[in-house]
Amino acid sequence: MPYSQIVGAGHYVPENVVTNYDLEKLMDTSDAWIRERTGIHERRFFTPGKDTVTSMAREASLKAIERAGLQPTDIEFIVFATITSDYYFPGCGVLLQRELNLPGIGALDIKNQCSGFIYALSVADQFIKAGTYKNILVVGSEIQSTFLDLSDKGRGVAVIFGDGAGAVVLQATQNPEHRILSTHLHADGRFAEELAVRDPGGSRPGRWLTHEMIDDGGTDVVMNGQNVFKHAVVRFPEVIKEALDANGFTTADVDLLIPHQANLRITKYVGEQLGLPEEKVVSNIQKYGNTTAASIPIAMSEAWENGRIQPGQLVCLAAFGSGFTWASALIRW
Ligand code: UT7
Repeated sequence: MPYSQIVGAGHYVPENVVTNYDLEKLMDTSDAWIRERTGIHERRFFTPGKDTVTSMAREASLKAIERAGLQPTDIEFIVFATITSDYYFPGCGVLLQRELNLPGIGALDIKNQCSGFIYALSVADQFIKAGTYKNILVVGSEIQSTFLDLSDKGRGVAVIFGDGAGAVVLQATQNPEHRILSTHLHADGRFAEELAVRDPGGSRPGRWLTHEMIDDGGTDVVMNGQNVFKHAVVRFPEVIKEALDANGFTTADVDLLIPHQANLRITKYVGEQLGLPEEKVVSNIQKYGNTTAASIPIAMSEAWENGRIQPGQLVCLAAFGSGFTWASALIRW
């Protein structure tokens, strides 16, 4: 049976840097509050007319493919994680397939919020282990800045999120030494409305999107930040331990944890709970904010570029977010 190995990673972030000081000019917030509560210093917002969710994904993908030593035509399938697709439908998978000029190959969209990338990686891993494909592109890309209410009313949500894209190439290998060891996916839909955008929706009386929905705030991001935080600090360590237990490891065996970048306080708490020193936990939320499905592949691509990921290391990915959904992946690099 083949195993799957990550053979290339790439990322793209828009050039437009938005600092906490820039946000101070738009809403009643402060650099001090944002840094203390989230760890974020700045984030990137897309440039209209230049960046789209798909174009950012294309840039990240081309880097990942090049670093894998492959050509785009080697890619046999695309799994695209996003909650901010360019169109309501079709999803970004087919748009990326078009931009990479790969007519005919399958393209699957995954809408699992902050856990989206690990869900996408897990789906790709199953296809490779089943022998269906040899090279799969797994992508996370988000433009969230247009979802944010950059006024006093939206400040509890707006300061956290940013835009960006990351991608990896997953390849079939017969070598058990370098591979994804396991993935673990969870959800609890009882908390669906704790972090959500309710509208537009197919089940509405009349039209699926109306002016009233917008006026009533239905298209705004609603987040019960404290409750998300409370669940995150339980689920992150739980799902990381699940991955380690499943493979007969302990936290002492972990070389690098790449968590979804939700909040630096969450990441630090999780690291402490697991007894992982700071140098074994990747944090780049300071520069990019929370980029949802893109945060793990961006962090992974940067860590790889910076030499923090080395062959043979035990690398753990973990995520928690809206749904609630949470997930982990354990990789022998
Ligand atoms: O990937 C999953 C995505 N979401 C998350 O991970 C969110 C998890 N939750 C969090 O990160 C935190 O709950 C937040 C960063 C969202 C908020 O931090 P907090 O420490 O939970 O603050 P809070 O919501 O309890 O608000 C504390 C105070 C409130 O004022 P009062 O009622 O104490 O007077 C808020 O109105 O801070 C106020 N506040 C702000 N002040 C300045 C809320 N947002 C802001 C802001 N600037 N941007």
